[in-house]
Amino acid sequence: MPRPAKQSPVRKAVFPVGGLGTRFLPATKALPKEMLPVVDKPLIQYAVEEARAAGVEEFIFVTGRGKSAIEDHFDHSWELQESLTARGKQAELAEIQSWLPAPGQVAYTRQQEPLGLGHAVWCARHLVGDEPFAVLLADDLVLSETPCLAQMAKVYGRVGGNLVAVMDVPREQTGRYGILDVVQDDGRLAEAKGLVEKPRPEKAPSTLSIIGRYILRPEVFAELDRREKGAGGEVQLTDAMARTIGRIPFHGLRFEGRRFDCGSKAGFLEANIAFALDRPDLGAEMSEILGRYKDALEKA
Ligand code: UTP
Repeated sequence: MPRPAKQSPVRKAVFPVGGLGTRFLPATKALPKEMLPVVDKPLIQYAVEEARAAGVEEFIFVTGRGKSAIEDHFDHSWELQESLTARGKQAELAEIQSWLPAPGQVAYTRQQEPLGLGHAVWCARHLVGDEPFAVLLADDLVLSETPCLAQMAKVYGRVGGNLVAVMDVPREQTGRYGILDVVQDDGRLAEAKGLVEKPRPEKAPSTLSIIGRYILRPEVFAELDRREKGAGGEVQLTDAMARTIGRIPFHGLRFEGRRFDCGSKAGFLEANIAFALDRPDLGAEMSEILGRYKDALEKA
């Protein structure tokens, strides 16, 4: 398969945030799931910061009904800025301004109906154009020394094609993920000859599962154009990626770090504990607090 010697850098990232977040009702009735905070930062901000750390310069949000809090979060807040200035809270002021994208770096498009992740990504096709792009699902949070997308961007520079972050899961969980049909695996990087979305454990070709980080070639849009429904009656990104295999190399990278499924309640709660323990300003206090639950844990 042809592999260009040097890959163009990944300058654009798509953040699909059009989902309904039904697993978090009632919290997500009026609040977008992606605005739920882990410690003190919304999930979507972690994703945007991760993209920026990987060299991304353009941030494309695919939003939906009830998601305007995300647009507000990445905009100036004049009243708050004036109040902080008046109260001499310079550190807080600098903090809320430090991660704001520059004018023109953010674009929003709307997925009118939540027809699936593949459909959400397809909605960004004109904003992405004809270049490689990243997709980050904010509800997958990775705690790592080198941010997950930066690890991928480095490997992408070498292998090109479509590249996803993967992890091994227990076989009974394959029905929750897109699964790789592996042709070659060096323990870190696996090459796939096929993909299956949410297979039953006995039908899964492996236990190597895709998590919410992708670097994709624009050819994926042509496959998404078909808008064919797959597992769960949704337009699946996995199906579109699978159809490019044979023309475009497809790899899964076992990233370094711990991934939390913040789309589930238990995963979200665990992320809050892990990120709090990891914070220099909170770790010791959190560890002391958790110690108070030792007896309850032993009884559970
Ligand atoms: P999920 O499968 O977690 O769906 O989407 P959801 O609707 O957000 O949550 P639940 O299952 O009802 O609780 C994974 C990611 O894909 C986005 C979501 O916003 C989330 O980031 N997504 C999903 C879309 O943008 N559009 C869709 O049509 C579906």
